[in-house]
Amino acid sequence: MLKDKVALITGAGRGIGYSIAEKFAKEGCHVVICDISEESSVQAAQSLTEKYKVRALGVKTDVSNFEETQKLAARVIAEFGKIDILVNNAGITKDNLLLRMTPEEWQKVIEINLNSVFNCSKAVLRPMLKNKGGRIINIASVVGVMGNAGQSNYAASKAGIIGFTKSIAKEYGSKGILCNAIAPGFINTKMIETLPKEYIDNLLNLVPLKKLGEPEDVANIALFLAADLSAYVTGQVIKVDGGMVM
Ligand SMILES: NC(=O)c1ccc[n+]([C@@H]2O[C@H](COP(=O)([O-])OP(=O)(O)OC[C@H]3O[C@@H](n4cnc5c(N)ncnc54)[C@H](O)[C@@H]3O)[C@@H](O)[C@H]2O)c1
Repeated sequence: MLKDKVALITGAGRGIGYSIAEKFAKEGCHVVICDISEESSVQAAQSLTEKYKVRALGVKTDVSNFEETQKLAARVIAEFGKIDILVNNAGITKDNLLLRMTPEEWQKVIEINLNSVFNCSKAVLRPMLKNKGGRIINIASVVGVMGNAGQSNYAASKAGIIGFTKSIAKEYGSKGILCNAIAPGFINTKMIETLPKEYIDNLLNLVPLKKLGEPEDVANIALFLAADLSAYVTGQVIKVDGGMVM
């Protein structure tokens, strides 16, 4: 479905990002795995090259650093010649009630979750315009739609991503660049590993499908948004949450 396309996926050393990279590679896409962890980005790229015989490159990048992201995009262009798909997936949580939240907890989450989306989208924009099109897929969260006590920083970053997605869809639709967001519910990755069991059990009461999502559930929608199948879809926020938020 993505034969000989080139995708740049942030935070793809593990979790949802890795699952998206694997799904794309399986479809013949060359993938650039960027992650703050050098070890996991290089390992992920190696295993995808071996498994799917596509070109995969792992690059340590801090997506909250503007210069690093511009250098990353320049390197991808130098080595692959184009960027067809950007998946802005890197993200963190630093949960706290507002009463206790420090300015550092606020800023770090905004920098990594939201500023990164500006940095990376800006870095791929000219190459995509030159290529007469492209796909930008932003990983938001249902928390950005519904809010969540203890996550005001995270919710603000994800709501920001949604506003950004719709604006870019409007700015560059006529240039063939489609921009959509995915809003996952609770997905079985290291990000939610530290949540208490009771919290998860209570949460599942709100999920009609009565289970957590798997990274592949998100990757399937990312594949749809990257492929020709979604040629008339832009500015949308697709929830992958087992029906939790309707
Ligand atoms: N797991 C969930 O329940 C869930 C729900 C909704 C949205 N999401 C979103 O999905 C995305 C992926 O989350 P996940 O569950 O796979 O988490 P994860 O913690 O397993 O993976 C996140 C990856 O991002 C990388 N990363 C962190 N900071 C970075 C930086 N500054 N630069 C580059 N890479 C960085 C990490 O090293 C890690 O590999 C995040 O944006 C998250 O907010 C997750």
